[in-house]
Amino acid sequence: MRYFYFYLYIFVLSLFFSIHSTHQLQFSQTQVLLQLRKYLQYPTSLQVFQSYNDDLCTLTPSQHLSIKCEGNSVTELKIMGDYNNKHGKVSNFNGFAVPNQTLSKTFSIDSFVTTLTRLTSLRVLSLVSLGIWGPLPDKIHRLSLLQVLDLSSNFLFGSIPPKIATLMNLQILTLDRNYFNTTMPDFFEPLCNLSILSFKKNQLKGSFPFSLCKIKNLTDISLAHNELSGALPNLTALSRLHVLDLMENSFHSRLPLMPKSVVTVLLSKNSFAGEIPSQFGELSQLQNLDLSSNRLSGAPPSLLFSLTNISYLNLANNVLSGSIPEKLNCGSKLGFVDISSNMLSGLLPSCLESISDRRVVRFGGNCLSVNSQPQNQNQKHGSYCEESNSGKMKFWRWEIDAAIAIIVLVFLFLLAFGVFLYRKCHSTEIYRHEMLPKIVQDNNSTTGVSFELLVSARYISQKMNLGAQTTTTCRHFSIEELKEITRNFDLSAYIGEGSIGKVSFDYSKYL
Ligand SMILES: *[C@@H]1O[C@H](CO)[C@@H](O)[C@H](O)[C@H]1NC(C)=O
Ligand SMILES: *[C@@H]1O[C@H](CO)[C@@H](O)[C@H](O)[C@H]1NC(C)=O
Ligand SMILES: *[C@@H]1O[C@H](CO)[C@@H](O)[C@H](O)[C@H]1NC(C)=O
Ligand SMILES: *[C@@H]1O[C@H](CO)[C@@H](O)[C@H](O)[C@H]1NC(C)=O
Ligand SMILES: *[C@@H]1O[C@H](CO)[C@@H](O)[C@H](O)[C@H]1NC(C)=O
Ligand SMILES: *[C@@H]1O[C@H](CO)[C@@H](O)[C@H](O)[C@H]1NC(C)=O
Repeated sequence: MRYFYFYLYIFVLSLFFSIHSTHQLQFSQTQVLLQLRKYLQYPTSLQVFQSYNDDLCTLTPSQHLSIKCEGNSVTELKIMGDYNNKHGKVSNFNGFAVPNQTLSKTFSIDSFVTTLTRLTSLRVLSLVSLGIWGPLPDKIHRLSLLQVLDLSSNFLFGSIPPKIATLMNLQILTLDRNYFNTTMPDFFEPLCNLSILSFKKNQLKGSFPFSLCKIKNLTDISLAHNELSGALPNLTALSRLHVLDLMENSFHSRLPLMPKSVVTVLLSKNSFAGEIPSQFGELSQLQNLDLSSNRLSGAPPSLLFSLTNISYLNLANNVLSGSIPEKLNCGSKLGFVDISSNMLSGLLPSCLESISDRRVVRFGGNCLSVNSQPQNQNQKHGSYCEESNSGKMKFWRWEIDAAIAIIVLVFLFLLAFGVFLYRKCHSTEIYRHEMLPKIVQDNNSTTGVSFELLVSARYISQKMNLGAQTTTTCRHFSIEELKEITRNFDLSAYIGEGSIGKVSFDYSKYL
């Protein structure tokens, strides 16, 4: 009987070990990991592979390396290297290997990703600061179970592969600090489980991806430090959104309404114009709001300062005007307020006179008057701020630009129409006169048709009159009529010196 227990014990023990051994990482998966180490040119984070003879799945996870397995395949692979790109960006990266900054020129991103896709069970993949360079291959989508994909701080460039949109399980997609430099893709609609999208510090162009508005699970959208422009859509449908970070782009619409759930909204260093929507004063979860360095005007909603959760509020460097109500109640968590470099006037509300250390307040560069004398952070003279109230500042640059573009288009259309009518009426003359190219040659101009020459109405009209002498049968716009309509082709009649100063105008943009 005693032996029976002994054998049972041995049996159970051996059963345990045999089960354990079936959990051993498949040989092929181990081979893939070793191959990846070679492709990555033996980074220090993978040095442990060398001395480790046991199953790689049993490595204790660290900040630099984490491997998790299920059954006998790898489900999670996180490697963090120590390439410099983590902090600053390399200015001289132009798509090729940079010594000591990227993996050497023998690195092939295509082979690397091909090998990577043999880890077919991967759900979490994070390869950060490894000096990986090249365009990200489309075949990354073969890792169809991916829930987390983080390739930050590498040297990936070109476009974000459209097939990423087939990774239906994706919850976190992070491609920060790379060199992606094409148009911002707008294919995110199928990724209905996506909660975090972060493409910070790339060179993406184009507009905000409207397909994001359909992803109800989104909590974080970070597209800061790119070259995005245009308008922001109505984001109120994103009822779980916590973080919206679009700093340092070129967005130039009015501010959209925000979902009630937002905690952090960073929109500084863009060209947002118009007033801050009063709806911002109802965002009860809001803790951090940075709208600095835009072209926001009007009076800031006073409720912004009293939000229950607000702690960081930066409205500096705009053209906000009017006054803030004196009897303002600052939110109890408000620790930092910057309203400097605006056109605010009136009395600084007492809760913003930072007497205690608990609240930092910057208000310089306005026309505010302050009760306690020593605090008068260089305020401007009242007349500086009055200008803004007279309505002269209402038109912002982009509106002016649009107006100019329309005027120029109308002008060019009239000109083209005139020339067209002329040619139609004098079709027999046309080959003899060879209008515009001839004009250019006459003028000894070296390059094509210059716009200055085109607007040199007198010159054109002389030429046209020469042609007009031969026929009088056809009704057409005379150049005098065109001149009348366009005020002698004088663009300055339309642009001139606006109330906000001289508008410089680059003709070449419109040719
Ligand atoms: C993107 O960057 C790469 C590498 O610097 C360059 O070769 C390519 O021309 C760039 N593409 C665009 C559209 O700017
Ligand atoms: C770059 O690497 C080379 C060796 O490959 C080394 O001699 C040089 O000091 C390194 N430069 C910097 C700035 O680290
Ligand atoms: C979204 O995630 C849930 C739970 O993780 C999962 O059941 C569902 O299949 C996912 N949806 C898609 C479209 O993958
Ligand atoms: C949102 O995420 C939850 C898990 O957090 C998931 O169960 C749900 O399916 C997702 N919603 C949609 C619309 O995919
Ligand atoms: C924004 O969208 C919500 C619903 O998604 C709608 O109720 C609201 O009227 C919209 N607001 C504006 C200003 O378009
Ligand atoms: C905002 O404040 C309310 C009430 O003080 C609190 O219940 C809530 O958790 C806060 N929200 C955040 C995101 O901290």
